[in-house]
Amino acid sequence: MPKIQILPEEIRSKIAAGEIVERPASVVKELIENAFDAKASFIKINLREGGIKEVSVYDDGEGIEPEDLKICYKHFATSKIKTLSDVFKIVTFGFRGEALASISQVSKMTILSKHADYDSAYEIRVEFGKEIYFKPAHLNKGTLVKVEDLFLNLPARKAFLKTPRTETFKIMEIIRGLSLCSPETKYQVKSIDENKENTLFFWEGGNERELLSYIIRLEKSFFKELHFEHPPYSIFLLLTDTSKTFSHTKYLYFLINKRWIKDEKLTKMIINALKPFYGNLGFPAGIVSIKAPYHLVDVNVHPAKWEIRFKDEKTLFLALNKALEEFFSKKTFYYEREKHPFSQQIKEDIPLDYPQEVSPFHLERKPLFISSDFKKPSHKYLGTFLNTYLLVEKEENLYIIDQHALSERIIYEDLKRNFSKCLSQELLIPVLLNISCDPSEFEEKRKILHSMGFELEFLENNKIILKKIPSIFKIDIKDILEKILEEPFPNLDELKIEVLRRYACLLARKKGDILSEREIDFLIEKFFSENLQTCPHGRPIYIKLSLKDIEKDLRRR
Ligand SMILES: Nc1ncnc2c1ncn2[C@@H]1O[C@H](COP(=O)(O)OP(=O)(O)OP(=O)(O)O)[C@@H](O)[C@H]1O
Ligand SMILES: [Mg+2]
Repeated sequence: MPKIQILPEEIRSKIAAGEIVERPASVVKELIENAFDAKASFIKINLREGGIKEVSVYDDGEGIEPEDLKICYKHFATSKIKTLSDVFKIVTFGFRGEALASISQVSKMTILSKHADYDSAYEIRVEFGKEIYFKPAHLNKGTLVKVEDLFLNLPARKAFLKTPRTETFKIMEIIRGLSLCSPETKYQVKSIDENKENTLFFWEGGNERELLSYIIRLEKSFFKELHFEHPPYSIFLLLTDTSKTFSHTKYLYFLINKRWIKDEKLTKMIINALKPFYGNLGFPAGIVSIKAPYHLVDVNVHPAKWEIRFKDEKTLFLALNKALEEFFSKKTFYYEREKHPFSQQIKEDIPLDYPQEVSPFHLERKPLFISSDFKKPSHKYLGTFLNTYLLVEKEENLYIIDQHALSERIIYEDLKRNFSKCLSQELLIPVLLNISCDPSEFEEKRKILHSMGFELEFLENNKIILKKIPSIFKIDIKDILEKILEEPFPNLDELKIEVLRRYACLLARKKGDILSEREIDFLIEKFFSENLQTCPHGRPIYIKLSLKDIEKDLRRR
């Protein structure tokens, strides 16, 4: 008996809505994007119960004509594209005509709108996809979209929502990021609960630097900016330099053609470009904004429009690298940093208003790569195979060097060198380690770790608290400690060195990481000058093929 059936429209719509509307924050994102497309200069948002009970977004944009209002909540109803070719050069935030359709399928939605060509405003009410009424209304300008009782018709989905407080937090993250797409716009965001109003965001319009400073609560003067042209790309950087870094990337916003993007591949690429400049100091706060010709980017790749594809990522990476070199005036590479007056580096690890995801540690980390003189190389870098193996020619030999193993060894040597000089540092908030281990075995390991500068305390119920760590490490050492305390160690003399080895591995460049040319030069120079042979665990770093070997294999000899 045949098993396949075409799902009825009712179910199809709900499934499609799930792709776009995951939680109140997704509703807010779509409605703000619509307001941007309507050229609003003021956006006002009210939230009830973290947006679960109600999200209202008012904008003073161009409004919707009554005929359009009647159909704007239908599937594929859009004014933004007309032909298939438009999909490949999208200039607006929206383009699918699906946001209002999706929202209206899973909520009670009311839209009031006044278009300049009409004397009156109109209002439409749609409950869970069905039109309830359409009538004249009162509104002087723009559009007000009110979304009530989200997921009331889908209890299973509603059950996935978090507390109103967490949902508000997620909404605010979206508002912060999106506001940077249009800093000249005015924003007002309020939560209204039990007749108590609370202003969560208030912005009167300004430039990127001012808005960023408001969002991150960081003095404007910390941000440096650069406009950099590298056809076909225009790059705008507004970043903190090495004097103000963070242990997370939460304050870094990536905009592509003014669209805020959260794309894993792109993020990795940008982080890779930033790494040689910020090294182990962490990450900057700020904006990396790239303008590219619309036909070179594909925005139609993710249901919530978070991701993007570039036609030519390599050129973009090079452009970004050049922009960063210019931003740092070719000076502050991490292995050269000692030469520069960054003696008063402030390390800020505590986000001010992100209570749920706070990283409560405040530690200094010295740059690991420091080298003062950079000699002219006697080798030639030929390229990188599969973003993993550096190919280098030197004196009729071809070296195939494992970038991870080499970077790991260099960091390991640096850790060893700097370790004896570093102090033990108290954590602002002690950390609970997530392990279970035998108290007597723990005691032996604890003594060794204590001699390194770690302070661990065994509490009742098998709980272990980490109170101090050597200043050379950051709190990411926690995972390594947990493993080391749990694993059996036949030779405890190895324990100290194993901590350094594993930390070096954690910090090192990985297989597949794209490195800048400056960093590659640095790694190769170190490789030859220090005659490095193996990674800290004893794996070889390279393979050497002599011209003789190659010719023999090719039967030239
Ligand atoms: N705030 C607004 N002001 C003016 N017009 C609006 C507003 N919100 C929606 N519209 C109109 O309603 C249409 C449908 O909106 P909807 O968000 O569903 O789709 P879209 O923005 O075209 O595409 P996407 O699904 O990618 O967001 C829009 O194309 C636009 O014409
Ligand atoms: Mg839209």
